[in-house]
Amino acid sequence: MGAFTILAIAAAAATASATNLFVSDYSGSVTSFSLTARNGTYNLTQTFKSEACAPNPSWLTIDANRGLLFCLNEGLTSPNGSLSSFTINANGSLNHIKNTTTISGPVNGVIYGAAAGQRAIALAHYTGSAVSSWLLNGGGKFSFNQDLPYTLPHPGPVPARQDAPHEHEALLDPTGQYILVPDLGADLVRVFGYDEATLKLKTLSPLVAASGSGPRHARFWNPYGVSCDGCPTYMYLVAELASTVTGYAVTYLPNGGGLNFTEIYKSTTYDLLNLPEGNAPAEIQVSPDNRFLLISNRNNTSFSLPTPSGALAPSDSISTFRIQEDGTLVFVQLWPSGGLFPRQFSIDSTGSLIAVGNQNSQNMAILLRDVATGLIGEPVARVPLGGNTTCVVWDE
Ligand SMILES: *[C@@H]1O[C@H](CO)[C@@H](O)[C@H](O)[C@H]1NC(C)=O
Ligand SMILES: *[C@@H]1O[C@H](CO)[C@@H](O)[C@H](O)[C@H]1NC(C)=O
Ligand SMILES: *[C@@H]1O[C@H](CO)[C@@H](O)[C@H](O)[C@H]1NC(C)=O
Ligand SMILES: *[C@@H]1O[C@H](CO)[C@@H](O)[C@H](O)[C@H]1NC(C)=O
Ligand SMILES: *[C@@H]1O[C@H](CO)[C@@H](O)[C@H](O)[C@H]1NC(C)=O
Ligand SMILES: *[C@@H]1O[C@H](CO)[C@@H](O)[C@H](O)[C@H]1NC(C)=O
Ligand SMILES: *[C@@H]1O[C@H](CO)[C@@H](O)[C@H](O)[C@H]1NC(C)=O
Ligand SMILES: *[C@@H]1O[C@H](CO)[C@@H](O)[C@H](O)[C@H]1NC(C)=O
Ligand SMILES: *[C@@H]1O[C@H](CO)[C@@H](O)[C@H](O)[C@H]1NC(C)=O
Repeated sequence: MGAFTILAIAAAAATASATNLFVSDYSGSVTSFSLTARNGTYNLTQTFKSEACAPNPSWLTIDANRGLLFCLNEGLTSPNGSLSSFTINANGSLNHIKNTTTISGPVNGVIYGAAAGQRAIALAHYTGSAVSSWLLNGGGKFSFNQDLPYTLPHPGPVPARQDAPHEHEALLDPTGQYILVPDLGADLVRVFGYDEATLKLKTLSPLVAASGSGPRHARFWNPYGVSCDGCPTYMYLVAELASTVTGYAVTYLPNGGGLNFTEIYKSTTYDLLNLPEGNAPAEIQVSPDNRFLLISNRNNTSFSLPTPSGALAPSDSISTFRIQEDGTLVFVQLWPSGGLFPRQFSIDSTGSLIAVGNQNSQNMAILLRDVATGLIGEPVARVPLGGNTTCVVWDE
């Protein structure tokens, strides 16, 4: 309770401050919300809505330092997807800058390149079995850089989901010199370097994941919070089909030659001996204090939550693990995510609030989190959205 008291005091002191959040949903909307905290009471208010990333927004990449938001439209029923950009106003409203057609099914993107120079965004295309890259030209303008399409010689062990390569995320290593792309269909984590001048991606040796496991999302972790290519480095990979989290010790090969992965830990994302039937984990995050790993579990309704009408509604969960110095994990808590199918969640910079996109409940839930213990608490806000929720980001 200690941390919650501190949170309430901090909130009371900052009555005027509001934090903006952006939420994408499959009905076509990107919605802005403002969250204010006053004396421990939270007020979540919708401030803006854009349909410029329609028809099926699947992912938001925020560049908070430059006031830019990039949105991916998965194009669920069209042959192509799209990339849209916005500038962010202080009041949370968005100005649409550009919309471009892409290979089908973009579901995730990450910005890479020189911090103060030329940068690009790399996109993972689930349906289109590809990675693409777009040069960022300032103020939300961008231009095509590269498409890297993939094929599978034969379907994987789970043919319904492994009929083809399915790129699911694009993330950076802690030094920013590599881009990693978990491929759910090919049981790989693809690894790319890039040319510093052109930002064209260069294919390096991938991490070969367990056969049939379905790699989805990953996060890096440095035990001392120091990122360099000689520092102890770990990566945690969530595999959707096997419902596992696997920890790897990561070393840097010489001359930008890529990464070497050594498996050091593996458990179900519940850390239970019996894998829950049908469980399909999705998102993974490291807490801002670098001490905990959080993973969302979908498709296994272990909890019930009261709704405004008083009726109980089912909820999926978020697992919390403590990260030990040697990179192994200790299970801490399984807690309701505030709805069904928590596809994605984001932790605020203080570590005291988690915004969860519960896809099939068509809501965003904001959960309290005790920074000291890592334990998640009750929702302080839950809002319905117009469609299945896909992504939530804090503007901070
Ligand atoms: C703050 O919350 C506490 C506990 O709920 C309450 O007793 C107090 O009156 C509130 N203060 C203000 C200024 O609203
Ligand atoms: C929440 O914030 C909105 C916008 O500032 C305001 O109109 C509304 O009255 C607030 N609600 C409560 C319960 O304070
Ligand atoms: C953006 O591009 C996609 C793909 O070409 C298209 O389906 C969509 O209608 C466009 N959206 C807007 C708002 O122009
Ligand atoms: C939000 O800010 C933008 C840019 O300054 C402005 O055009 C818009 O009117 C503002 N919206 C509201 C609701 O105040
Ligand atoms: C749109 O999809 C088609 C069919 O998959 C593909 O050939 C084409 O390259 C895509 N367009 C873009 C701009 O990526
Ligand atoms: C990768 O690390 C392992 C030790 O975990 C080592 O045996 C192997 O030689 C390394 N591979 C490369 C290419 O450096
Ligand atoms: C969740 O997992 C438990 C344990 O395996 C299983 O008994 C239950 O049927 C599962 N629930 C759903 C909705 O899949
Ligand atoms: C949800 O679980 C059921 C079995 O309980 C399984 O048939 C179904 O494929 C699962 N859905 C997803 C999206 O993993
Ligand atoms: C949307 O959510 C509903 C449940 O509310 C689910 O049946 C459906 O499969 C979901 N569709 C997508 C594309 O997320």
